[in-house]
Amino acid sequence: MMGWLCLVLVLLLPASYQLATPSGNGQLRRLWLQDHCSAGICTNVEIGRSDYVILSQAPIPGLTMLTFINSSIAKIPHLLFDTFPDLQILRMENCSLETFEKPQFEGASNLMSLFLGHNRLKDIPKNIFLGADNLATLHLDSNQLKQLVNNSFHALKEVKHLSLADNQVEQLSPGVFGGMRKLQDLNLAGNRLEALPRGIFDRNLNLTKLNLARNRFTAFESELLKMQPLLTHLDISGNILQELTLNFSSLDVAVAHSCDLRRLTVYGVIRELDLHNNSLREMPHIPQAGNVSSLDLSHNPLGNLQGNPLRRFTSLLRLNLSATNAHELPEGVFKKQGHLQMLDISGNSIYSLKITIFDSLKELQYFYFQQNNWNCDFLQLLMSSFVKRRDISFMEDITAPELVDDYVDGIACWYESDKQSKKCESGGSDAAMELSVVRNEIKTFTELVEKKFVKVYRMLEEMKMKL
Ligand SMILES: *[C@@H]1O[C@H](CO)[C@@H](O)[C@H](O)[C@H]1NC(C)=O
Ligand SMILES: *[C@@H]1O[C@H](CO)[C@@H](O)[C@H](O)[C@H]1NC(C)=O
Ligand SMILES: *[C@@H]1O[C@H](CO)[C@@H](O)[C@H](O)[C@H]1NC(C)=O
Ligand SMILES: *[C@@H]1O[C@H](CO)[C@@H](O)[C@H](O)[C@H]1NC(C)=O
Ligand SMILES: *[C@@H]1O[C@H](CO)[C@@H](O)[C@H](O)[C@H]1NC(C)=O
Ligand SMILES: *[C@@H]1O[C@H](CO)[C@@H](O)[C@H](O)[C@H]1NC(C)=O
Ligand SMILES: *[C@@H]1O[C@H](CO)[C@@H](O)[C@H](O)[C@H]1NC(C)=O
Ligand SMILES: *[C@@H]1O[C@H](CO)[C@@H](O)[C@H](O)[C@H]1NC(C)=O
Repeated sequence: MMGWLCLVLVLLLPASYQLATPSGNGQLRRLWLQDHCSAGICTNVEIGRSDYVILSQAPIPGLTMLTFINSSIAKIPHLLFDTFPDLQILRMENCSLETFEKPQFEGASNLMSLFLGHNRLKDIPKNIFLGADNLATLHLDSNQLKQLVNNSFHALKEVKHLSLADNQVEQLSPGVFGGMRKLQDLNLAGNRLEALPRGIFDRNLNLTKLNLARNRFTAFESELLKMQPLLTHLDISGNILQELTLNFSSLDVAVAHSCDLRRLTVYGVIRELDLHNNSLREMPHIPQAGNVSSLDLSHNPLGNLQGNPLRRFTSLLRLNLSATNAHELPEGVFKKQGHLQMLDISGNSIYSLKITIFDSLKELQYFYFQQNNWNCDFLQLLMSSFVKRRDISFMEDITAPELVDDYVDGIACWYESDKQSKKCESGGSDAAMELSVVRNEIKTFTELVEKKFVKVYRMLEEMKMKL
């Protein structure tokens, strides 16, 4: 495939250039990639910021994909796309790339995918992508980009997938994505955005996936995406929002975990909703709850569900109520969940349930209920009359044996310590409830101590740095 014909490039060099490998500063170097690369994988390539590099004696046609590994390449070599005229995929992740040089992508009209994640790029100069007319996928994640201007992505008319995740972007100008009419998937997670300018997506009518997680948004307006009828995936987790209203005609997946949400309203059709690790004390308000197939409410302080909050979630396949501070579940709570396949109520303080609560769960295949305060007698019944009988998958407990009275099929449980007290108490399980409260307090206390410890440790580190 590679004809080593000589050598127009080298012959054209001014005599004053010195040819040497490896280089000192600012020298012209020959870097015969055929010495470093095999089957499209190049290793241990070193190119400094001021090196001017010739990669090969002649163009190397037919190579469509090139991946650099364990290499340190301060800039994409000037003649890369002349050397590899057929290059479609370039992977230069984690190569200590620092800078773009003009003209960087001249001749790169075959390039379809460019992966430049985990580098040290600080900015994207205006018009730098001129020449990469057919680029469809561009990953610039985990760099140090701070600012993007209107013309940063000029010429990238074909881009469908763009990742700018884990940079330091604070602001976006309204026109920055304007040329990318075909943009489908945009990842802005892990930046420092506080707001998005009005109209920023007005030209991106085919946007289907948008990731805004881990930024500094304090509000989110669905209005911003009112022209995107194809939007199906939205992730806004890790922003502190507290109150959120989503209003889309139809979303497949909305992820809003770790937002400290206290209230959530979702208009329109939504299928999967991940709300774990928020501050919800009430169920989300979803008029079209009948279209929700997956709901994750784990790690929210919902407490005991009151009334019949799931009655309109008639199509649920997966429901996660793990760690929601529940002591009990109302008897009819799963009455309308005839399709439910996965139910997680682990990590609560549930002691016992009415066994009839499970009658309606005809389709259940996975049931996770470990890490509760099960009464051993009830647990036996649950296992024999429901879980094992129906061959439902479950998960064993990890609770330390010294805290446990017994295990039933690997799930921790406790015997009633004082039968007498049970008879006297209304509801039959107040003593057990108290016990479970104490147990949870211990759990919480331990977590708190761990957190404090981390904090102290961090402070120590900071002090050390200052010294
Ligand atoms: C890359 O470097 C790592 C660590 O130095 C080494 O383990 C690995 O084998 C190298 N990979 C290649 C393809 O040279
Ligand atoms: C980048 O490369 C360094 C060393 O070459 C390695 O230690 C590190 O894990 C790599 N990081 C990623 C994200 O690939
Ligand atoms: C960037 O583009 C937007 C919208 O296209 C325009 O309103 C704005 O003036 C432009 N800004 C600059 C600095 O060119
Ligand atoms: C948007 O998507 C539709 C259907 O998927 C397609 O026909 C159209 O060409 C796309 N528009 C652009 C600008 O890519
Ligand atoms: C939701 O958005 C639609 C269309 O943008 C609008 O007509 C409707 O009033 C909104 N609904 C609510 C409750 O805000
Ligand atoms: C839970 O969310 C808070 C923000 O409300 C965040 O600080 C924390 O890291 C999240 N915890 C986990 C385990 O995701
Ligand atoms: C939403 O659910 C309703 C009632 O179950 C159903 O008629 C409708 O087709 C669903 N909508 C979508 C978009 O799936
Ligand atoms: C339910 O949520 C918890 C906490 O977020 C998670 O650890 C667990 O894996 C989830 N359960 C299932 C079955 O996905």
